[in-house]
Amino acid sequence: MSLLIKNGTVVTAADLHRADVLIEGERVKAIGHDLNAEGAEVIDAKGMFVMPGGIDPHVHLDMPFMGTFSSDNYETGTRAALHGGTTTVIDFILQTQGKSLRHALEQWQGRMNGNLFGDLSWHMAVTDFNDDTKKEVKEMIEQEGITSFKTFMAYKGALMIDDRQMVGLMNEVKEHGGIVTVHATNGDMIDFLVQKHRSEGKMAPLYHYLSQPEITEAEATGRFADMASYTGVPAYIVHMTCEGALNHVRDAARRNQRVLAETCIQYLLLDASLYEKPDGAKWVMSPPLREKKDQAALWGAIDQGTVQVVATDHCPFMMAQKAMGSADFSKIPNGHPAIEHRMELLFSEGVNKKRITLNKFVEVTATNPAKIFGMFPRKGTIGIGSDADIILLDPNEKHTLSAKTHHMNVDYSGYEGMQLTGKVKTVILRGQVAIDKGEVKIKKGYGQFVKRNKVSGML
Ligand code: URP
Ligand code: ZN
Ligand code: ZN
Repeated sequence: MSLLIKNGTVVTAADLHRADVLIEGERVKAIGHDLNAEGAEVIDAKGMFVMPGGIDPHVHLDMPFMGTFSSDNYETGTRAALHGGTTTVIDFILQTQGKSLRHALEQWQGRMNGNLFGDLSWHMAVTDFNDDTKKEVKEMIEQEGITSFKTFMAYKGALMIDDRQMVGLMNEVKEHGGIVTVHATNGDMIDFLVQKHRSEGKMAPLYHYLSQPEITEAEATGRFADMASYTGVPAYIVHMTCEGALNHVRDAARRNQRVLAETCIQYLLLDASLYEKPDGAKWVMSPPLREKKDQAALWGAIDQGTVQVVATDHCPFMMAQKAMGSADFSKIPNGHPAIEHRMELLFSEGVNKKRITLNKFVEVTATNPAKIFGMFPRKGTIGIGSDADIILLDPNEKHTLSAKTHHMNVDYSGYEGMQLTGKVKTVILRGQVAIDKGEVKIKKGYGQFVKRNKVSGML
């Protein structure tokens, strides 16, 4: 089966040109002017940007966390992602302390198998690095195509590892060609501040924010960068929120070390004043939303290339789940829904408001995640032979975000009533129209698990 996308403006991280795109089977066959293909279904993309499908390398679907599960599963989460133009996501497997990585992998496979609408891969979160886990790193990379290993320097008593484990893991991952990623905040400092606030009877969502000041993130970022420099492992910091952390990445660059950094759409657009609202629990996530000066620093860092990826850290919870912490901020499940709207939010607020170029948009939403995590050039670009993961975006269509109309399985929106300009109209996943004008055109199970290649940590 062939598809021919005609009359659009094709945008990649490097190019922007009027061209037609011919798709045969799952792949891009040709890009050129006035293409014709007998029997091909023609899609008219006049007035549209034709761009690579988004890759969101930071989502948590059906994840057991803080006594509950994130409310989007593999079905609802990957479908909502497709609605917003994200064709591939990278989700997290969490090792149970005392158990093997293989044990965790099998649990996650059980939840995922047969349920995907969009394509998906996994990071392996190592929460207990020991001699047994050490042996499994090579196996994950070479047999399973899971080439990235997530670590937590926070969530003390649950997911956090210490520096000894971190260095051990880094050595092993470097040897076998993977990358170590990190939630970089100082878990001991945060634990101290959480207990201090609770003992003083300070239980409101605002104290979630006040228990994770900027210094907790800056310190851990610097420490992680130092350990990565010492071991030489490719290093990637997830959900960076603040100027202090960015400055540690810049310090690393001064000694010629490359530390890759991701921010998330909410840290660019929302700020900590939301924690003073009565429904502040909606935005309880870790790290917390920060200040306007941090938003400015993050936009600047994207422009400069210090931050290479804009993800979501999609980890939704229903309001009833958020209410588990109504009397104590430390019991509010941490996380926020965003998988559906990352692309449209960044287009509207980034490209349309001239904070970033169209090429940068493609770079941070698709090409860089594909390169960093071993999927390029199969994914992350529109090139001959690449998977035909393509979106058509109307840059002028206006729409309003709301829980009433979104497709995520969560009963609120962190952006309720926000007006955007620019809408994803058609989404193609491996040569199949998956979404057209809001309608789903594929069946559950079409999405595939993506085995990834070894990574260099370079772009
Ligand atoms: O609040 C968050 N970010 N929840 C998901 C887990 C994590 O730390 O990424
Ligand atoms: Zn995190
Ligand atoms: Zn996360």
